[in-house]
Amino acid sequence: MRRLITSVIIFFSASTFFSEASVAQSGKFVAPSWTDTLVNPVKNNREATLGGKHLYQTDCAPCHGNEGKGNGIAAAGLSVPPVDHTSAAVQRQSDGALFWMITNGHLPMPSFKLILTTQQRWELVSFIRTLKKH
Ligand code: HEC
Repeated sequence: MRRLITSVIIFFSASTFFSEASVAQSGKFVAPSWTDTLVNPVKNNREATLGGKHLYQTDCAPCHGNEGKGNGIAAAGLSVPPVDHTSAAVQRQSDGALFWMITNGHLPMPSFKLILTTQQRWELVSFIRTLKKH
């Protein structure tokens, strides 16, 4: 009986977890406000920014485009258009918010949590900062 109760509890918590995850996924892609307090450890670091540029060309450009304008070769086939990283809407967000978005993703944008290291994700934030319109 105890085992049955435990499995029922596990079943329900798992299904709530998954339905919440799908609700979050179908909602807007917005970073929680606590992420604004995160500090980019490689801010204004030229070497790290260059590293971010290389990562961007391989991992992000297929969707976001080489210049970050959202016009990569895979962009047309996506259900949601890739965001233009040169736009004010992206550039006015905090470093921490961008880091959180790269980490978690939002379909069709994949999560990079397991694909890239923490350092690499911050390098990408530094590179995205160079994409703002001058
Ligand atoms: C498969 C295509 C794809 C790839 C690859 C991809 N993205 Fe995205 N990205 C998207 C889409 C689509 C959105 C918009 C998602 C949404 O609004 O639901 C997005 C949104 C974002 C946002 C949110 C911007 C905002 O202010 O809303 C950031 C930041 C971002 N991508 C960074 C990156 C970085 C950095 C990489 C590479 C490490 C990357 N993306 C790789 C498709 C992609």
